[in-house]
Amino acid sequence: MVDTHCHLLPGLDDGPRTTGQAVDLARELLQAGVRSVLCTPHYSRQWATPHPVAVAAHAKLRGALEGARVDLETSVAAEVSTAFAVTASLEDLAERRVGRYVVVEIYADTPAPFFATVIDRLAEVDLLPVFAHPELARSIERRPEVVDDARARGALIQVLAPGIVGFWGPAVAAHAWDLLEADRVDLVASDAHGPRRPARHLARAAEMMAQRIGPAAVEDLTETRPAALIRSLSRDDSYVVAPPTSSS
Ligand SMILES: [Fe+2]
Repeated sequence: MVDTHCHLLPGLDDGPRTTGQAVDLARELLQAGVRSVLCTPHYSRQWATPHPVAVAAHAKLRGALEGARVDLETSVAAEVSTAFAVTASLEDLAERRVGRYVVVEIYADTPAPFFATVIDRLAEVDLLPVFAHPELARSIERRPEVVDDARARGALIQVLAPGIVGFWGPAVAAHAWDLLEADRVDLVASDAHGPRRPARHLARAAEMMAQRIGPAAVEDLTETRPAALIRSLSRDDSYVVAPPTSSS
């Protein structure tokens, strides 16, 4: 599997505190069936990590993984808070992109219009959001068509393993399954943080999804489409923040 949402970098947020703990989490991810991880440290008021600091933490972790012979591919972006998605500069957001996408988190009380607001804002620099854990949002439970509108405009919907397996409670799990069974999801990822939120949630979510929506859908959500997202990161090094050119 390719995991497009994971707090693997040590010492930056509520993920692993030390490099040793990060190496342990990397081993757990491999055991859970993950071969490639997009590190998404929080970018929020609480954890306003400058991106070069995250890039340096990633380089240090790469050295530790190679030293420990942990064969896990890694790359780095961020998980942008709802507040920063609308207040941080577009340059700050673009710096944290993966390909053309920026991972933006959704909370229980995020209002439905937030989705279009963020799509409009990122469009100014020709970027699109990946909306992380919309299964938490009560507004989306009431109005799932908001997800359809966002996807029609190119945004991606990322449902996370803790939601699917019931770690965030039965109501969130029911909503996650509604989204999955209605084919309203583009990516499934771990949101692993270490022991507190372990990598095995993703392995369990994949098993449950294989039963309920079939192995082909699991392959699509955890391998094919996440791999395409990661590939777009490495191919797109020449990206510069500029207004999108007219398509006419
Ligand atoms: Fe996260």
